[in-house]
Order: sequence, then structure tokens, then C-alpha cells
Amino acid sequence: MQPIRVALGARSYNIYNGREILQELPDHLRRARMGKRLALVTNPTVFELHGYQLRETLSAAGFEVNIFTVPDGEEYKSLESAGQLYTQFAEALIERGTPLLALGGGVIGDLAGFVAATYMRGMPLVQIPTTLLAQVDSSIGGKTAVNHGELKNQIGAFYQPVAVFADTSTLKTLAPDQLVNGQAEVIKSAVVGDPLLFSLLERRMDEIKSGDERAVSSIVYRAAMVKANIVSRDEHDSGLRNNLNLGHTIGHAIESVTDFKVSHGTAVAVGMVAAARIAVRMRLFAQHDLERLLGVITSAGLPTALELNTADVLEAIKHDKKITDGHLKFILPVKIGRVVVSEKVTMDMIAEALTE
Ligand SMILES: NC(=O)c1ccc[n+]([C@@H]2O[C@H](COP(=O)([O-])OP(=O)(O)OC[C@H]3O[C@@H](n4cnc5c(N)ncnc54)[C@H](O)[C@@H]3O)[C@@H](O)[C@H]2O)c1
Repeated sequence: MQPIRVALGARSYNIYNGREILQELPDHLRRARMGKRLALVTNPTVFELHGYQLRETLSAAGFEVNIFTVPDGEEYKSLESAGQLYTQFAEALIERGTPLLALGGGVIGDLAGFVAATYMRGMPLVQIPTTLLAQVDSSIGGKTAVNHGELKNQIGAFYQPVAVFADTSTLKTLAPDQLVNGQAEVIKSAVVGDPLLFSLLERRMDEIKSGDERAVSSIVYRAAMVKANIVSRDEHDSGLRNNLNLGHTIGHAIESVTDFKVSHGTAVAVGMVAAARIAVRMRLFAQHDLERLLGVITSAGLPTALELNTADVLEAIKHDKKITDGHLKFILPVKIGRVVVSEKVTMDMIAEALTE
């Protein structure tokens, strides 16, 4: 597969995508004159499943791989974990030029990315995402962050990787609920910017769910392309990148009022459906396209609605960071493959869409 280019001038990079592509990592590192020492940051789950093999591949090619593990879980995406990595890096004499390889899902990618951005003011970062969500979303675009108290993802930096290696073979070991979780972002990418991806999801969902590698690789590739194209035009989230928030205003509110017991994918799926219902009422989106969206979300194994306390959800939306000067910037689909930002969506409209 052709690499996907994230075009950001001096910070441009490639996303290498496909089956077993981690075999090619040593060649890429060599060509990029990365040096022989590498800092691999991962968690024990991913290390066990894919890290040993990657270490073997790199060691066999003459690289010296220093492994640093962080316990598995969102709660370890913290300043404390970053601090421990700084200490361990310093003890291992990791230098500013040593590439940091972030092997794992979005938690490892965000945390290791933050550490790469800040340790000695920045070391080369290679993202090696191993969840569907990370391959199509979090590893691309340079948003790195840790959580701090109530501040989720609010302590961070824009720091682009030098490359992303999304090996779709690693997804074979992913728990089914994690695959479903990532599907919400794939569907979102299709609605935001790729009608062909959407039809692929309609036609090949059974194959995707059964783990057919070709089908999975093509959806990962196309969804990553949507994100790469948007990030290339709006690196620092000052406009177009907002489009990627389709389903997320309501989705974040649902996660927050349910104390994160509802998964991100489920919350985004319900948020996308509500946004689409609002768009239909505003005569921006066709009823037929809403039905197609409901069909794809359901066939992916995601719900289209949840029993929720609507008043709580609305309250959480009011606290959302996307409210600027009292105006809610809401992303609405206008057709499959195109969205717009609207400031005309009211709390009543959201309440109605959630209870429909
Ligand atoms: N930076 C961004 O732009 C961005 C975008 C979206 C989400 N995020 C962040 O991403 C995080 C969520 O990422 P996630 O959904 O990947 O969760 P995650 O990183 O917690 O991974 C989910 C689980 O899957 C395990 N896992 C990872 N790869 C595996 C594999 N190949 N086989 C088996 N198990 C595997 C992990 O150990 C973990 O237990 C959140 O912290 C979120 O804030 C960041």
C-alpha cells in the first residue's frame, strides 16, 4: 500500500499501513538514519502480544532496544507515569536524539507522545498503534496528552511523530469490544469525508467483523486518509479539524454523565445518530442517509440510542470546551462524506434528538 502523507511542511511524515509492515520497520529506521539505540514504550499486555516479536525484529537488524513499560489503563495516562518515564530514561542514558517508539493503543500513544515532546525538549517519535482506534485516529495528527485530575487530555502538546506504522496484523489479538469501539471512529471518518469508505462498511461489515485482513486493512487505510487530509490542512485544530468532532459533543457528555462506564465508541455512535437526526429536522441531511447511518452503526455492533438522563447530558454539554462565547459549535452531516459546523443547534433540539 502507498504510504499516506501527512503534509505539514518541515513536520511532514508518512503513515505506513498494512499487514505485517512492522517487518519493514528496521529498514525505515536505517534509511532515516535514526541511530542504533531505541526507546520502546509500551504496556505489559501489548508487550506480551507484539512487543517481544518487535524487539526480535529490531535486535536481529542490529538495533539496541530499551524497553519501558507503563501499566495498562487510562488511569496511567498521567503526569506521574510521564515522570516515571523521564526518570527511567535518564537512568538508561536515553538521549535527545534517541527515537521513542510508542507501541500500543491510544493511551500509550498519547502518553509516550507527551514524553517524547517534553523529554530533553523533544525526541523523535514513531507511533506504532495497535488498536483500531489508534490506527485510524489517535496516532495521527500530533495531539499528545495526559490526564490530570478532572482535566482529561488537557495537559499536552501538539507534537508530530516522524512516522506512523499501523500494522493491521496486530489487530488480530484485539478484544472484540475494542474492535467495535474503534469502528465508531471509522464510521465517523466515512461520514465526515469518505462516501466510498461508507459503502465499503455497508458491503463488507461481516468480513470486517470476522477479522478478514484485507477488508480490515482497507477500512483502516481509508479512515487514516480522512484524518491525515484534515490534519494536513489544520494542524493546530483551529478550524477544519473540528469536523472530526462529529458525534463527540454529545459523546463526551454521555461518557461524562455515565462516569465513563459507557465506552467512547458507544457514546460517539449515539452522538452521531443524534447529530444526524438534528440535521434531518433542519432539512440538511436526507432521511435515507440517516437510515443508512443507522444500518451501518447497528451492523458494526454499536447502539443507536441509550437510556439516559437527558437533563444531565445537556448540563454536561454546556460545560463542553467546544462552547465558544456561549455558542455551541455543533458538527452536522449534510451528506455521507460531508459535514458542516452549525451554531444553530439548541439544547431543545439535542434533547429531542436524544429522546426520539
Ligand atoms: N491523540 C488523539 O488525537 C486521540 C484521539 C482519540 C483518542 N485518544 C485517546 O486514546 C485513548 C483510547 O485509546 P484506545 O481505545 O486505543 O485504548 P487503550 O490504549 O486503552 O487500548 C485498549 C486496550 O487494548 C489493549 N491493546 C492494545 N493493543 C492491543 C492489541 N493489538 N491486542 C490486544 N490488546 C491490545 C490495551 O492494552 C488496552 O487494554 C484515550 O486515552 C483517548 O483519550 C487520543
